[in-house]
Amino acid sequence: MRDQRIVEIRNLSKSYQRGGQIVPVLSDITLDIASGEFVALMGPSGSGKSTLLNLIAGIDKPDGGMLRVAGIDIAELSESELADWRAEHVGFIFQFYNLMPVLTAFENVELPLLLTRLTSGERKSHVETALAMVSLSDRMEHYPSELSGGQQQRVAIARAIITDPTILVADEPTGDLDRASAEDILNLMDRLNAELGKTIIMVTHDPNAARRARSLRHLEKGVLTADRS
Ligand SMILES: Nc1ncnc2c1ncn2[C@@H]1O[C@H](COP(=O)(O)OP(=O)(O)O)[C@@H](O)[C@H]1O
Ligand SMILES: [Mg+2]
Repeated sequence: MRDQRIVEIRNLSKSYQRGGQIVPVLSDITLDIASGEFVALMGPSGSGKSTLLNLIAGIDKPDGGMLRVAGIDIAELSESELADWRAEHVGFIFQFYNLMPVLTAFENVELPLLLTRLTSGERKSHVETALAMVSLSDRMEHYPSELSGGQQQRVAIARAIITDPTILVADEPTGDLDRASAEDILNLMDRLNAELGKTIIMVTHDPNAARRARSLRHLEKGVLTADRS
């Protein structure tokens, strides 16, 4: 799988309707991401980074163009097909973690597995492995409010990888963290990519975070520009 294109985007466009006005956000985006890549997507605030990431993750739908992930034209899927596809193929890491406050770390990570056929014993062993990977074996019964920001983001990463998704997408994953916690998160993403071969697409405007990726794409007012790879 390593050299295969996992994301293929051709002439993708997206605009939003607001108060009768059409606001163009992305125009004519063409982008390939290979399996096993760790890509940083940079650009100023408002340039459309989150919009593009949400399209790739099947959270939002494009107006035009082709969007293929792991060989599937996801723009062609119905809402319910897209929801199933997302559950199977995408792990999402958010800036503000998005953990369920009433669930423990263990329960948060277990949540995506409740949609699978795994038994509770199998789920338990998967969750314990994922939480060990993010060095939180000693915090499994803690609630999000009892964890630091960096620890909450590590729980969110464990939740994102628990179903072994095809792609991991992260929107400003270090945006709310202090420098040391941000480093922990970036080290973890680096390991997921280097050791487990996870394909990672990370939106960031932090140059320190972007440096850790293996390739860089730049968005400027909805258009992809410079490219380091
Ligand atoms: N749901 C929405 N409705 C209307 N406009 C939106 C919506 N989401 C984003 N936008 C607009 O699209 C542009 C790009 O937003 P976004 O993708 O969030 O940028 P970035 O993540 O690079 O900061 C912004 O001008 C924003 O106001
Ligand atoms: Mg954004």
